[in-house]
Amino acid sequence: MCGIVGYVGKRQASGICLDGLKRLEYRGYDSAGISVLTEDGQLNSLKTVGKLSILCEALQQKPLSGALGIGHTRWATHGRPSQENSHPHISGNSRIAVVHNGIIENYQELREGLIRDGVKFASQTDSETMAHLVQKHYDGDLREAVCRAVRELHGAFAFGVICADSPGQLVAVRRFSPLVVGIGEGENFIASDMGAIRKETDKVYVIDDNEVASLTAEGVELTGLDGAAIEREVFVIPWPAEAAEKGGHKHFMHKEIHEQPDTIRACLTGRVASPDRPIMLDGLGLSEDEIRNMRRVVFTACGTAYHAGMTGRFLMEKLARIPSEVDLAAELRDRDPMVLDHTLCVVISQSGETADTLAALRSMKEKGAKILAVLNVVDSSIARESDGVIYIQAGPEIGVASTKCYTSQTLTLTMLALYFSQVRGTLTEDELRSYRQELLRLPESAKVLLAREDAIREVALKHYERTDALYLARGVNVPSAMEGALKMKEISYIHAEGYSAGEMKHGPIALIEPKCFTVAIAIAGEVYEKMIGNIMEIKARSGPMIVVATDGDARIPDAGVDPHAESDDFSAQPNDMVWVPPMPEMLSPILLGIPLQLLSYHTADLRGKDIDQPRNLAKTVTVE
Ligand code: AGP
Repeated sequence: MCGIVGYVGKRQASGICLDGLKRLEYRGYDSAGISVLTEDGQLNSLKTVGKLSILCEALQQKPLSGALGIGHTRWATHGRPSQENSHPHISGNSRIAVVHNGIIENYQELREGLIRDGVKFASQTDSETMAHLVQKHYDGDLREAVCRAVRELHGAFAFGVICADSPGQLVAVRRFSPLVVGIGEGENFIASDMGAIRKETDKVYVIDDNEVASLTAEGVELTGLDGAAIEREVFVIPWPAEAAEKGGHKHFMHKEIHEQPDTIRACLTGRVASPDRPIMLDGLGLSEDEIRNMRRVVFTACGTAYHAGMTGRFLMEKLARIPSEVDLAAELRDRDPMVLDHTLCVVISQSGETADTLAALRSMKEKGAKILAVLNVVDSSIARESDGVIYIQAGPEIGVASTKCYTSQTLTLTMLALYFSQVRGTLTEDELRSYRQELLRLPESAKVLLAREDAIREVALKHYERTDALYLARGVNVPSAMEGALKMKEISYIHAEGYSAGEMKHGPIALIEPKCFTVAIAIAGEVYEKMIGNIMEIKARSGPMIVVATDGDARIPDAGVDPHAESDDFSAQPNDMVWVPPMPEMLSPILLGIPLQLLSYHTADLRGKDIDQPRNLAKTVTVE
């Protein structure tokens, strides 16, 4: 996930672009750059690696002057953070500059075609392809050249494009990546989100997929790729500029919870193209033969990433039929495990810098295991020491409590298990097709879950003053219970424990009393009936109950309610419900993080906690 900005008007573009990039730095900070068209028609650029402050200093040394410009702050997806991989990318004739947020799925074949036509690439990025395509199609009409170039692209993108031969014009286009156009007085703007330009204007057009905006100082023209004009209502941004970085959200955690339809889509892009095409995972560092001959998979991580690893392990064994296990990184290294031939160690980490996880990686590598990392941060320490890497494409996660990365880690590990089953033939083509179809529905399902936030806040209102919580589930959703409990304990400081519901009678049931609420995951599926039994056991002991259940389930609200109990007794009260849409049970861990994140978020908010920086915690634990 990157941030793009652009400006056309009467003022100096570079300062306005820089200011916008500062508000977009949460979207990526591997590198940054600005291109500006000077009064005399020269295209000048400045690009630096690392945080935006480095670009700021460079601009003080070498100011860029001109009233038309674009800027970019990068979260590396293709090509490591470096000068040549930084945006804006420049066409071969040095007349066109492009900034990009997203992933061009078919960039390799486009790149090969352009190289055959004599184009020289300066970077390893997918984004540079667009600069050369616009040059290829440019014949004096920049908007038309951008439309022709976009027609050749597959994937997700938001572009800003300027051209030395089209002074005073900025063209922007999007598909699956966010883009807004800011409307000023004698000046206009583009940005990845409203927060970047809220200081300049509160009037924006929100651009939809396959729509093109052509901006000049005098005005904005919106069209489709076919050139047909589009009428669009002006949206007036309701919140003040100072709320910009969080996009109007109260906390980064809340913002990141709401990014999940987009981050799920980014994680799927380039991997699940359609129900009829096989899942594509590159960069694994494994041949198909090695996958066929794999005898054991060991998943390892810490904290939230460990819970994602639990799901990865469950699905690798269930779908790809490979004996699998999952271990906390700190324990794996210390127990000196046996590693036989054909063993894969899957290392999961948002930061790619967690010391315990790195130590476990080194120990397993030393014992002869192949190492596959599932990471968010490109080119991190774990990336550099792994045989293969899959990036979850979630963009920077600022909130200490992991949310969108957990969802994308779980999704990535689900795709890995399905990919392995594709190679090993352990699922029929119909089964695989059905899974791919359901994976493609996940972004919309995530939107449905997020739209139910108010109802979840109502549930939090009833329980936020309790002191303890038990999270219960069975089967594939035990990790969901563990993760839901971790979210609750780390931001609300309620002592929450996640457990397999089958374990309840072996101890945890002793905790049940009015100050301890229970969250039970009882969606439609293989373990539903057993979960009903656990709910009744808790209700019979008058425990407050919150149940995550599938829309339309008539049994759950009153499951375990004793009509003869005293009215102030919880066993007489119906269960509090968190309703979720029907979903395939094996894919449900990907989505069930979302309602549980919202439950913990609103509980912590009601308790007045420091949600983005909870006490005693750090975003990355680089000590053992
Ligand atoms: C999760 O909300 C916590 N922030 C923590 O458990 C985290 O998941 C753990 O420290 C692992 O971090 P990593 O994914 O960067 O390796």
